[in-house]
Amino acid sequence: MNDDLDPMRPPTSLHEHRPASPGRLGLALCAVLLTTACTDRMSSSDDRWSRSGELIAMSGGEAGARYACATCHGARGEGNGFDAPRLAGLPAGYLQKQMEDYAAGLRPHGVMRDVARFLDSHERVRVANHYAALPPRALMPATQETIDAATPRLYARACQQCHGVDGVGTMDGPPLNAQPAFYLIQQLQDWQVSKRRNDGNHVMLKVAQQLDAGEVRQLGLYLAGIPPRPASPGR
Ligand code: HEC
Ligand code: HEC
Repeated sequence: MNDDLDPMRPPTSLHEHRPASPGRLGLALCAVLLTTACTDRMSSSDDRWSRSGELIAMSGGEAGARYACATCHGARGEGNGFDAPRLAGLPAGYLQKQMEDYAAGLRPHGVMRDVARFLDSHERVRVANHYAALPPRALMPATQETIDAATPRLYARACQQCHGVDGVGTMDGPPLNAQPAFYLIQQLQDWQVSKRRNDGNHVMLKVAQQLDAGEVRQLGLYLAGIPPRPASPGR
């Protein structure tokens, strides 16, 4: 990261003063003029919408490069192997919910709060759809630490019901496989101290508070080492 860009401190007025997006401007013009050119543009709207999800991911859209998701989450949504998770192949609904939760402060994080707040709800949907459609991939975990034989059993007993066999995710919990170990450990620690509070009925708070520090670390390392794979159809 380039410190000069300082993603932590965008001007607070950024959101209010942003110029109208070309898309919105286009719609407004169409409404006023109803020209053939506008009708043509409308008919290709599907393309434009999916493209704009990719545009936000790669360029940061109107917010500029410091908010380009790819800077931290990788060119293909693979994450940075450290604190920024992979986004590729995660369910669109889950990704979108996280951005709502960052914006609302239920999941406190300085950078992601600003990133999410700069996107309007349509843009959040579009960028979520973009990442959900990318093939899951991840960086190879760098660790040589061994996984206790007890850890897969702990996972099967305490986590698998919601996060699926090998952490591929289910309807009741997002994929955890091939996420950076540091990131997974951080999330569990955040739940333990009620910093992350965006889980319905505090499911993850209750789960996390039953784990000791060694188990949190082991579960993070274990899940990070499971290769990415396409989600099960039942998710
Ligand atoms: C400057 C770095 C940076 C940029 C730019 C950035 N992110 Fe993030 N993102 C992070 C970090 C770090 C986290 C983990 C935060 C935490 O611990 O909650 C994260 C977490 C997320 C999550 C939560 C994923 C999960 O598995 O729960 C989503 C979704 C997300 N980012 C989407 C985006 C999108 C979309 C963009 C671009 C519009 C973006 N991010 C731009 C650093 C960044
Ligand atoms: C009763 C269901 C349930 C059980 C059991 C459960 N989880 Fe979760 N977990 C969830 C839900 C739901 C979320 C997503 C919450 C949200 O919307 O942010 C989640 C999210 C997570 C995340 C954050 C993923 C991300 O991308 O940020 C981690 C890490 C996690 N769980 C680890 C575990 C571990 C480890 C266990 C077992 C020790 C476990 N969970 C057991 C339901 C469950």
